[in-house]
Amino acid sequence: MRTELQRILAEAREQLANADTVEACEEIRIRLLGKKGALTEILRGMGKLSPEEKKTMGQAANSVKAEIEALLEEKLSAAKAAMQSAKLKAEKIDVTEPGKKFELGAKHPITLTIQEITNVFKAMGYSIVEGPEVETVWFNFDALNSPKNHPSRDMTDTFYFSQDKLLRTHTSPVEVRTMLAQDLPIKVVVPGRCFRSDTPDATHSPMFHQVEGLVVDEGITMADLKGTLDTFAKLMFGSDVKTKLRPSHFPFTEPSAELDVSCFKCGGKGCNVCKGSGWIEILGCGLTHPHVLQAGGIDSEKYSGFAFGMGVERVAMLKYGVEDIRLFYENDMRFIEEFK
Ligand code: DAH
Repeated sequence: MRTELQRILAEAREQLANADTVEACEEIRIRLLGKKGALTEILRGMGKLSPEEKKTMGQAANSVKAEIEALLEEKLSAAKAAMQSAKLKAEKIDVTEPGKKFELGAKHPITLTIQEITNVFKAMGYSIVEGPEVETVWFNFDALNSPKNHPSRDMTDTFYFSQDKLLRTHTSPVEVRTMLAQDLPIKVVVPGRCFRSDTPDATHSPMFHQVEGLVVDEGITMADLKGTLDTFAKLMFGSDVKTKLRPSHFPFTEPSAELDVSCFKCGGKGCNVCKGSGWIEILGCGLTHPHVLQAGGIDSEKYSGFAFGMGVERVAMLKYGVEDIRLFYENDMRFIEEFK
């Protein structure tokens, strides 16, 4: 039995010398000290010995056990330390390495321009409303006092889904929708997408954007329109621009006008932006036609209103010096990033 103990100790020393991992140490512990381990077997077998032998053999076995346990402990802590340092090495972060580039997006110039325009009107107390892009012929034309033979009603100018459904050709139908939906007084701006059957070129696109404006209250006059648009032009294009109203015609306004702004590039002397005239046409406007107020359920004897509508692309092209409208829709990041 003593030689057996010596053998177990020698075996333990030899095996533990090569045990470098926690798993290897554990395996050895089970083999020698586990429930069915070699040393456990010996300790169990001592029941058959005489009391004298039991005493000496017990002491010998316990000292072998203690030595194995101490060796195991030593090896285990070395293996754990090695494991920890290998883990730290693997997880090492090079804090001097350059970071990943974070691409910050930019607002599209059309979004940006719509926000600039509507912000000016918001500051003047207007609220923003929107309407559907798929519109009825009634809202797009009839309610806006458009004559039955008006060329814009043509299939060649307008995208129709059916006899009475189309893609709106302007944001003006939202004027009547607002009159029917809101209480008076009304003071709204309407940004949105519009569609016309145009062949794309540098200044035309079958899809484009407008911002409409509508004010309805008692006693609204041309003077209100003039003052409002002059304030808008100064806030949008610079405090030194001048404005003038030029007579025009729209079915939904009477009288109708076009707003010209003194050229913000040359100051009015004449350049390529204003095509030598010193003035730039910005929008159409006028006093809301009584027929339109009536279509919107408003008493045209008691109330009056003004309206205006401008092309967002046109404003953006003038303001940012963009020479081809198609650039807005190509989603070329080099173009869009210029507006960051
Ligand atoms: N709807 C017109 C267009 O698309 C623009 C316009 C002109 C709107 C005069 C108005 C207005 O509200 O009063 O050409």
